[in-house]
Amino acid sequence: MTTSPLTSDQQQFTEQLLAQMTLAEKIGQMTQPEKNSVKPGDVARLALGSVLSGGGGNPEPNTPAGWRAMVTQFIAEAQQSRLRIPLIYGVDAVHGHNNVVGATIFPHNIGLGATRDAELVRRIGRATALEVAATNVRWNFAPAVSVPQDIRWGRTYEGYSQDPRLVSDLAVALIRGFEGDGWTAPTAVLPSVKHFVADAATTWGSSTRAQSFDRTLSNATMTQDFRELLERGAWQIDQGNAEIDEATLRAVHLPPYRAAIEAGALNVMASYSAWQGLKVHAHRYLLTDVLKGELGFQGFVVSDWEALDQLHPGDYDRCVVDAINAGIDMVMVPFDYERFIGSLTRAVDSSAVPLARIDDAVRRILTAKVALGLFEQPHTDERLLALVGCGAHRDLAREAVQKSLVLLKNAGALPLDPHGPEVLVAGADADDLGAQCGGWTISWMGGRGPTTPGTTILEGLRAAAGPDRVHYSPDGHVTRDYRAGVVVLAEEPYAEGMGDRADLTLSAEQAALVARVRARCEQLTVVLLSGRPLVITEHLPAWDALVAAWLPGTEGQGVADVLFGRVPFSGRLPFDWPRTADHLRRGDGPAPLFALGEAAAALEPVMGD
Ligand code: GLC
Repeated sequence: MTTSPLTSDQQQFTEQLLAQMTLAEKIGQMTQPEKNSVKPGDVARLALGSVLSGGGGNPEPNTPAGWRAMVTQFIAEAQQSRLRIPLIYGVDAVHGHNNVVGATIFPHNIGLGATRDAELVRRIGRATALEVAATNVRWNFAPAVSVPQDIRWGRTYEGYSQDPRLVSDLAVALIRGFEGDGWTAPTAVLPSVKHFVADAATTWGSSTRAQSFDRTLSNATMTQDFRELLERGAWQIDQGNAEIDEATLRAVHLPPYRAAIEAGALNVMASYSAWQGLKVHAHRYLLTDVLKGELGFQGFVVSDWEALDQLHPGDYDRCVVDAINAGIDMVMVPFDYERFIGSLTRAVDSSAVPLARIDDAVRRILTAKVALGLFEQPHTDERLLALVGCGAHRDLAREAVQKSLVLLKNAGALPLDPHGPEVLVAGADADDLGAQCGGWTISWMGGRGPTTPGTTILEGLRAAAGPDRVHYSPDGHVTRDYRAGVVVLAEEPYAEGMGDRADLTLSAEQAALVARVRARCEQLTVVLLSGRPLVITEHLPAWDALVAAWLPGTEGQGVADVLFGRVPFSGRLPFDWPRTADHLRRGDGPAPLFALGEAAAALEPVMGD
């Protein structure tokens, strides 16, 4: 899109407003602190353009109404600033409004990629936008349009697929859902297409992110010890260096941005990663020449969380100059926002950053705010709160779960017979809502347990066949035999580089659990809850059925619907499924065990006798 998304009147309004702004007000618009850092009165005093909640940046109480009250306070304060430029609040609602207890949690993107259903994703985008707007939030740091190449990456599940065409189609669908009846409609939510560019193409071992255990990493609460995670590969690839050539960057990683911009996206988030050794946040060719020039992007580029600090550690002023001159328009500076404001002010005063660059950045920010109708309606309608976690949205999420499941093997074990003999369900992960939601759920890393209202897989199975017909053993130790056994195995919830793993095989405990159930049932089905394919080749011959369930979210009954045959399997692999443990980057090593787009032909239903 090379023309402005604004009408000529809106463009005139924007120029007139820009002409009234002081340098301090312009730089204030370019500043986005995290909500816990903002001192009372600073939104108005500094004319801050945005505030964000990072992963888990929740109010107390963490309720939809509590969220709305928190966000509204910041928006109202901005109305006290001299020019009353509306503040836009940003969150990561990457699979529903996932920080909010009670919100509908949809399958993570990898599961939506398995559905290949753009209309479904559009409806999910609309439902998510309604729940986000209910809390007065109008900016969502989604969709990730990553095209993962190495499934050891902890952010694989935030990608729809390894296929850039599928990524483009589903990202555009989600953006259409965020837009709804038009960008100026009161429930439209600004998407942030991320992370520009080739965030998913980095090389294993090239990341230096964990060299300092800083304040941000200390927020990444995991059950495992940080040192243990580092030994298992944490932060080995996330935020690393993409060594690909420009032809590959253009063929694989750029197309989803072109599609999203053509669909009207007015925000892009820059990637922490580097390309050919230069950090994207300082990459003028990529951010300005390619994104804003060649692709005609008319919106604004936001940095990632503290990403500027990584450019020249110890020389913050140089970080600021390089990033803003490269094309960053708004800076996500979660903590010391006044240091950023001071640094950029000095840079403009010394002409290290031209005033024209500042005006371009602010014009882009104002364009998005005008396009979203924020000047006319800075607040959304409070009555939307009734939609957060509503039945219709949970039904939609259940449909998405049904369509996301991929059947990879079925030697007559599925579908289960809801009227047949008792079924054994084993594994603590079968009854753990946090495990089936994964990362970016209530907290940044996510976590096990009943973290938010929803239905576990076990609860879904019992609702489908009756509690007496579904026996449950968390550890698989049982004293009788069963016709059918189902074992559910989950990855420990994680996000970002905390989820980088060198080894994607099953743990010894998981293998032992499956062996115990194998010994006690005629037909064994394994259901995997994972953010990526896992290496199960050696185990598969002993299994009668294998289902990839990805990270389904709150509506676990969608898994029961398909296991009991009420809904047929329809999902197909969004990624190659690796055959060996040491070939996990796409294109490496032997042919995959299962290929992109594949799924086992579901055998005719085997009804009980
Ligand atoms: C994180 C992620 C980005 C997210 C941002 C705000 O570090 O890289 O995807 O939108 O910070 O939470």
